[in-house]
Amino acid sequence: MFLAIVTFCLLWTPLWAHLVMQDPKPLGIDHEGGPDFYNAPLKSDGSDYPCKGFHLTAGMGLPEKQWNAGSFQNFTVDMRAVAAHSGGSCQVSISYDFGKTFKALKSFIGDCPRGAAGNQLTTNNQTFEFWIPPETPGGSVLFSWTWFTVTGFREMYMNCAHIEIVDGGDGLPEEYPDMFIGEINQCKSQEFLNLAFPHPGPQVEYGESNWMNAGPVGQCFDPPQVPEKAMLPAYKPRRRRSRRSSKVVTEGGA
Ligand SMILES: *[C@@H]1O[C@H](CO)[C@@H](O)[C@H](O)[C@H]1NC(C)=O
Ligand SMILES: *[C@@H]1O[C@H](CO)[C@@H](O)[C@H](O)[C@H]1NC(C)=O
Repeated sequence: MFLAIVTFCLLWTPLWAHLVMQDPKPLGIDHEGGPDFYNAPLKSDGSDYPCKGFHLTAGMGLPEKQWNAGSFQNFTVDMRAVAAHSGGSCQVSISYDFGKTFKALKSFIGDCPRGAAGNQLTTNNQTFEFWIPPETPGGSVLFSWTWFTVTGFREMYMNCAHIEIVDGGDGLPEEYPDMFIGEINQCKSQEFLNLAFPHPGPQVEYGESNWMNAGPVGQCFDPPQVPEKAMLPAYKPRRRRSRRSSKVVTEGGA
C-alpha cells in the first residue's frame, strides 16, 4: 500500500499544473497565458533564477500592492488542478536589489500547500499569513514565494510579484536570514521529508503533515549559493531621462 502511494507520488503528471502563487499576482503571469502555463519550476541549471526571469523579461510593471511596514499580509496559492507533490515547505522573501539578494520574512515548514494528499489538495484553506516588520525599508521590492516539494523531482519553485512597502523603517533586523536557494545548486532537499530551512528566521510556522522535517543535503553554503547562470541585471535599466539629456547634447552640438 505504502509503495503504491509512493509510486503514485513519483508519477510525472504533465497535464496538471503544479502550484502557482495566486495573490499577489506574479510577474508576467498574464503574458504567459495564466496559471496553467506559469506553473513550471525554475530550470535545474539556475538560468531562470530568480523569478523565472520575469523581473527582466516581462519587467517589474507597476506595484501589484502596497503593504505597510508593521502589518500582517497574506499570500494565497492557486487551488485549481494542481500537482501538490504531497506538500512541502515554502518561504516568503523580499529583494531590494532587483533579485541579487533576498531576505526571508517567514518560513512555512511543512503543509505548504495545506492538505496535500499526493498530488491533490483536500482543503481550500491556502491563505498564508506573515508579518512585515516595522523596520522593513520602504520602496519597491521583488516579493518572492519559493516552494520545495515533499515528493517528485527535487526542483525549486519561485514566483515573484512587485510590491511597494510603504511607511517603511530603517532596515530589516539582522535576525532575518537570506532566502534559502536549493536544487538549482549543489544543495538539495530530501524527498519524502519537509525541508527544514537551515536558517528559517524569526517567523516560522510548522505544518501538521505526517512528513518529518529534515535539513538539506549536499554542498550547502551560507549565504546560499546563487547559480552561476542566474538572471541578474548586468546594468541598471536606463531611464528615458538620460536618453533625453543625451539628445539635448546632440542637438546642442549640431
Ligand atoms: C489574511 O487572511 C486572513 C485569513 O483569511 C484574514 O482574516 C485576514 O484579514 C487577511 N489579511 C489581509 C491583510 O488580507
Ligand atoms: C487555515 O489554516 C490556518 C493555519 O493552519 C489555521 O490557523 C486556520 O484556522 C485555518 N482556517 C480554516 C478556516 O480552516
